[in-house]
Amino acid sequence: MTKPSVSSKEIIKKMSLKEKIGQMTQLPPNFYLGRTKVEVSGTQRNLNLNEEQVYTAGSILGIGGPGEMIELQKMYLDNATHEVPLLFMADVIHGYKTIFPVPIALASSFNPNIPFLAGRISAKEAYTAGIHIVFSPMCDLTRDPRWGRVVEGFGEDVYLAGEMVKAMVKGYTNNGLFGEGTVATCIKHFAGYGASEGGRDYNTVDLSRLSLHRDYLPAYKKGLDAGADLVMTSFNTLDGVPATINPFLLKTVLRDKWLSKAITIADYDALNQVVTHGAAKDQVEAAIKGLRAGLDIEMASSVYMNQLEMLVDEGVVKEDEIDRVVERIIDLKIKLGLFTNPYSGADAKKEEELVLSKDHLDKAKIAALESTVLLENNGVLPLNKNVKIALIGPYASSRSVIGPWSWHGKHDYHTSLAEAFMNNLTFVSNKTSIEDYSQEELELINSADVCLLALGEDASLSGEAHSRSDIHLPDNQEDFYHSIRQVAKSLVVLVFGGRPMLLAGLKSADAMMMCWFLGSSSSEAIHDLLFGLVSPSGKLPMSFPRNVGQIPVYYNHFNTGRPYQENSYNMYLSKYLDVENSPLYPFGYGLSYGEFRYDNLQLSSEIITEKDTLKVQVDLYNNSDFSCYEVVQLYIRDYVADIVRPVKELKKFKKIWIAGKTKKTVDFELLKDDLEYYNQDGLTVLESGKIAVFVGGSSDNCLKADFEFDTGE
Ligand code: BGC
Repeated sequence: MTKPSVSSKEIIKKMSLKEKIGQMTQLPPNFYLGRTKVEVSGTQRNLNLNEEQVYTAGSILGIGGPGEMIELQKMYLDNATHEVPLLFMADVIHGYKTIFPVPIALASSFNPNIPFLAGRISAKEAYTAGIHIVFSPMCDLTRDPRWGRVVEGFGEDVYLAGEMVKAMVKGYTNNGLFGEGTVATCIKHFAGYGASEGGRDYNTVDLSRLSLHRDYLPAYKKGLDAGADLVMTSFNTLDGVPATINPFLLKTVLRDKWLSKAITIADYDALNQVVTHGAAKDQVEAAIKGLRAGLDIEMASSVYMNQLEMLVDEGVVKEDEIDRVVERIIDLKIKLGLFTNPYSGADAKKEEELVLSKDHLDKAKIAALESTVLLENNGVLPLNKNVKIALIGPYASSRSVIGPWSWHGKHDYHTSLAEAFMNNLTFVSNKTSIEDYSQEELELINSADVCLLALGEDASLSGEAHSRSDIHLPDNQEDFYHSIRQVAKSLVVLVFGGRPMLLAGLKSADAMMMCWFLGSSSSEAIHDLLFGLVSPSGKLPMSFPRNVGQIPVYYNHFNTGRPYQENSYNMYLSKYLDVENSPLYPFGYGLSYGEFRYDNLQLSSEIITEKDTLKVQVDLYNNSDFSCYEVVQLYIRDYVADIVRPVKELKKFKKIWIAGKTKKTVDFELLKDDLEYYNQDGLTVLESGKIAVFVGGSSDNCLKADFEFDTGE
């Protein structure tokens, strides 16, 4: 971290009101460099800004590389009437040029070292482009796979998501050390965006305060505690008030409860959009509401720039209110070294050396290996090294495997499956309709030992503004699967995509692997996994539903007063008439080439108090010859509480390396903090009572033991 030789107070003293207000606006680079390719996720409107205003803006959204950053910063400083350099922020979500697995895949690793690594390498590369702040990680809890943005998050569980967020923030900032090869982080989208009704992006969010405090807020808090410097507000309303101008979120929770000094920034054009929401009658009211709620920076809109000066002149807003915000912004610029070197980081030579270097690609491969989830396997996998493969389907020779939100990633850099499996292929085709295959081609598929069918969604079907109401595989791929099932002797399905999809129709495959989008080293990792050089070890961070009508379906639900029981005489139970309650694949599920058996679950005591630690032990046997990772998961259930507790809650997990034909004893500790819960006021509650501990390799398959917790009251 750079030692401040200047103070924000002194800098502010030298600035005019207009210059200070400018700091509160972020603009895309094309306001300066007309030719730049702009990273915009919204529509570009005319912001009605004059040149003088443009040279007061405090930060830039998105950048093309080091050359562009240096040129822009120089042009800005030459033309500005003040001396405050621009901050450069960008959507580096799962890699700058070396692309890591998409966040939902990173979460599947159940290994915080993986998002840490993704953050670390992304930061090293982004730094060379002159990027100071990344808009990542996304902390939004996701329970609805129709929502396209589930790809950017860490799934349905509050604990897993929080651990992933924490690790990624630490990776970007190098454990908060900052300096060379690091970036600051802006966590997003505060708050509750993942609960958009019907999974439709930008839609209404109607969340209970209980669920908000218990499920949705903790991951943002963990991001802040891990050292995030900014918080982006979400597009949605909460309690009818857009998050961008929501005093409960920005003041009561962020400042008063969490005591956070993080800078708040609106999402793209969101301050302007509060008028469209119907929460402000015009931009004047939007400016007042934004400032009063605690919104520091607006992104790609000009509400503050065009209204605040007048509001100060009229005495509606005090200049002090603006100074307090600008002080925070300048402090961050000082912390990131901009007053020592406004071009900090940007270095074309370094960029060339680092991006897509062997080391970075190797690390992306490690991440890809751990992020893939094996869903089915009747023994066909791992493949024998001399196997003859027919590789077909839309992803057979496609290099588009890096997924959405990889602005700087380029498909051409990467190897396709056809290239990675070259030595074993007898036939390759991208065609996805059985009618398009000749008799001769079908015979080739049939004569191969294994048919590898690479199906899935295109990257453009998930991400922002890409919600789907039907989450089957697109383009009749399921029909294609059924036709090929008749032809292929042995069928292994690879599924690419950014969300849990409906895969029940594919269960007759001999093996099925959820590949998500694995990034730059996707094909190499899939090769090694299928041939058993490494065993799959990913577990699902989101339940895969049986049909869309089940959504939301998540493992940590309540019991209800009428829980479903098989073969009950009572028909008035909580169930559907046409589908089971359980998902197709539950949270925490994922197969391995190891054969695991859990045994001998032991608790150190039958009763503990607030001061005690409960030690939990389990024996894990690997009965196969494969040495591999297993994710050991610990859940609890608090049977009785003033506020009903979920039937299971993940409290700990460990990714354990276990050699073939060995046993390992795995330990966990539970403390009082693990037994506390949030009530609807966001207060933590601790009650006496009986608690179950579950340990196993999936949320639906665990050993169980009970203990008593005694608060002494
Ligand atoms: C997205 C954000 C993103 C921002 C800047 C918005 O539309 O919601 O996640 O960081 O654009 O590109």
